[in-house]
Parts: sequence; structure tokens; C-alpha cells
Amino acid sequence: MKLPGALSRLFVGAVLVGGAAIVLYEIFGPAGSGAIVRVTVPELSAAARTGKAVFDANCAVCHGVNAAGTRNGPPLVHDTYNPGHHDDDAFFRAAATGSQQHHWTFGDMPPQPQVSRREVASVIRYVRELQLANGITYRPHRM
Ligand code: HEC
Repeated sequence: MKLPGALSRLFVGAVLVGGAAIVLYEIFGPAGSGAIVRVTVPELSAAARTGKAVFDANCAVCHGVNAAGTRNGPPLVHDTYNPGHHDDDAFFRAAATGSQQHHWTFGDMPPQPQVSRREVASVIRYVRELQLANGITYRPHRM
């Protein structure tokens, strides 16, 4: 029978094309390339919008668009970085002196001396607003 053979080839082809489309969407889709977590972006305050610009220029290459992570660095919209475990000082410290690999396996974070303390403060506002919109709130840290 000729028709069923053609139909099944068509079906296999459709599945392959569909699968490839899904993979491409996951990699290059709106979540950003290689995002590790899915981030809901809230309406940002003016301070957080300033922070987003600083973040996109200095941090997103590793921490990802919307702080969703990349293959170079972890998502900051992640419970690990809730304010009870990584308070604002952790951000100032990371930007000023970098951070040794300890929570993940991305390697060390190099210092970001080009980012001023004031700019880091705006980045913190940005990251905290993203965290809040994604259900990440203060939890006391226990070792
Ligand atoms: C070259 C890549 C890279 C860049 C650029 C980068 N980071 Fe990081 N960052 C990392 C990695 C990797 C870690 C995770 C280290 C670990 O815990 O294993 C990290 C960890 C952190 C931490 C947690 C530190 C801690 O105490 O555990 C904060 C906060 C942070 N980054 C903020 C920032 C901010 C803000 C910027 C931009 C000003 C930035 N990072 C730019 C790679 C980067």
C-alpha cells in the first residue's frame, strides 16, 4: 500500500520538525539563551529599571537576561540568593572582590570594579524585585 507509507513518512517528518522547533525555541526563545530558570518579570520601579541597565551591561553575560542564569553563571532569581542567605552585603562584596566558586560549578566570579557601589545598589533593587515577583523572599539561613 502506497498511501499509508507516505502518511507515516509525513508523520515522522512532522514530529522531527516539531521537535527541532521546540529545541530551538528553548535555546533561542524569549527566555534568553541558555536560561536556567524561568523568570516572571514584574513592573519594575524606577530604581530597579536603572539597576536593570547596569545588570544587563555588567552581569547578564554570566547571570543571564532577567537574572535567569546562563552556562557561565547561576540564576540570581533562585532561592539560594534569597535575602536571608545572600543579603545586600553579599552583592556589594561580590561586585567589589568577586566570589570563589562554592555553591555551583561555574567557576569563580571575577571582581567587577567598573561597577560603582551606587550602581550595585540599583542592581540589588532590580534583583530583589525580580525575586519577589518569583516567590523568593527572606528565609533565615541555617547551615
Ligand atoms: C564572568 C561571569 C560573572 C559576571 C560578569 C558576574 N558574575 Fe556574579 N557570579 C558568577 C558566578 C560563577 C557565581 C557563583 C559562584 C559560586 O557560588 O559557585 C557568582 C555569584 C554571584 C553572587 C553570590 C556571591 C556569594 O556570596 O555567594 C552575587 C551576589 C553575584 N554573583 C552578583 C553579581 C553582580 C551584581 C554582577 C554584575 C555587577 C555579577 N555577579 C557579574 C559569575 C559572574
